[in-house]
Amino acid sequence: MKEYYKSKSNEKNIVEIGTDDKLFEKGKKLFIRNCTSCHYIGMDKVATAPALGGITKIRKKDWLYNYTRNSYQMFENGDSIAKKIREKDWGLMTSFPNLTNSDLDAIYYFVEKNHELPENKKIRK
Ligand code: HEC
Repeated sequence: MKEYYKSKSNEKNIVEIGTDDKLFEKGKKLFIRNCTSCHYIGMDKVATAPALGGITKIRKKDWLYNYTRNSYQMFENGDSIAKKIREKDWGLMTSFPNLTNSDLDAIYYFVEKNHELPENKKIRK
């Protein structure tokens, strides 16, 4: 189990922290700047790319970080999950080689936390 990325949101009471913690705000900014043109910010609906809510529970952290930085390279290298995703013919994802680990920590924290937030707190646009 330890090889899976566990979002911090699982460790605390979401309602208590609200949406004003720094990591959430950083992740939100980065997600809006880089990801919302294809992935729905509410995390629970398919846009032109798959919904990302819950993704940290089914993918390893290293895999997610490498994939976000260059998904096509992973496909080319024969990564079995990247190949499976490509079968659905979504199109290609932009590469983000410049996102640092701390940027990605914030992005995936935001992804999972926003996914888990109650409807009245969830960011939908
Ligand atoms: C230009 C559109 C586009 C942008 C921008 C984009 N994505 Fe994607 N994303 C896609 C597509 C299309 C796929 C499916 C790729 C495929 O079929 O090979 C995908 C797949 C993914 C997956 C794999 C989902 C799974 O099932 O494992 C993750 C994770 C992901 N994107 C995260 C991100 C993050 C984080 C950002 C912002 C930093 C981002 N994406 C920005 C289009 C995009």
